[in-house]
Amino acid sequence: MLAWTLHKLRFDQRTVAYTGHDISRLRARLAQRRRSIPGNSRKLHLGCGDRFVPGWLNCDVSGSEFDVDLAAGRLPFPDGSADAIVSQHVIEHLDLREQLIPLLRELHRVCGDDGRVWLSCPDLAKVCAAYLHDRGQALVEDRRRRWPDYSLGGAPVQHFINDLFQARGKHRNLFDFEILAWALGEAGFRSVKRVMEADLLAAHPDFPPRRDDLQSLYVVAAKTAAPAGN
Ligand SMILES: C[S@@+](CC[C@H](N)C(=O)[O-])C[C@H]1O[C@@H](n2cnc3c(N)ncnc32)[C@H](O)[C@@H]1O
Repeated sequence: MLAWTLHKLRFDQRTVAYTGHDISRLRARLAQRRRSIPGNSRKLHLGCGDRFVPGWLNCDVSGSEFDVDLAAGRLPFPDGSADAIVSQHVIEHLDLREQLIPLLRELHRVCGDDGRVWLSCPDLAKVCAAYLHDRGQALVEDRRRRWPDYSLGGAPVQHFINDLFQARGKHRNLFDFEILAWALGEAGFRSVKRVMEADLLAAHPDFPPRRDDLQSLYVVAAKTAAPAGN
């Protein structure tokens, strides 16, 4: 209702989106006090959007199987209760120090000793290199292959780079491997490995492919220093 009123009063899209998102976060936090965790939650898919993966507990801030505010600083799952956690294109939506590192600490707590955490996000290094290489033309072509309706609305091609950085106010930070590995290390993970989407799909073939390696960073993290695999 508040988001609708802001829209009617001609607030910009970013304010409308943020207000709606924050209201959803409030609802998710309040609802969590009343709900128990669905059974069979050893595989967590966090920030699932509309990609519900069978066999996983698909969580998002609203409209999911188990609504949760990932920026709340605390996850409602027991210690060591997950064998696998996947979160694709979500971490860039969180403030690095106030929200993301606390979330990664929670993933470390919830992940079992032999568990794996798979994360993906736009890759700061690939995005910057793409601007210097061809102002992002190849990334736009890649986006249109995957999302045929994608349009820059007539803006010059390099505006796509702005879109990746800001996503109309939804993105807070982009990450390269070094920043993400550092953040995971701060959260206690002892093994962080750069991988490709194919590695995630080989470990968990139930995930629908995004085919976004050209612009994305994929990592797998584990609690122990042993090489991170499946
Ligand atoms: C770009 S979408 C990615 C969706 C999906 N993972 C995919 O790969 O298509 C980002 C998702 O993160 C979710 N998200 C962002 N901030 C969140 C938060 N604080 N708590 C829970 N979900 C959040 C959004 O609701 C959205 O569904």
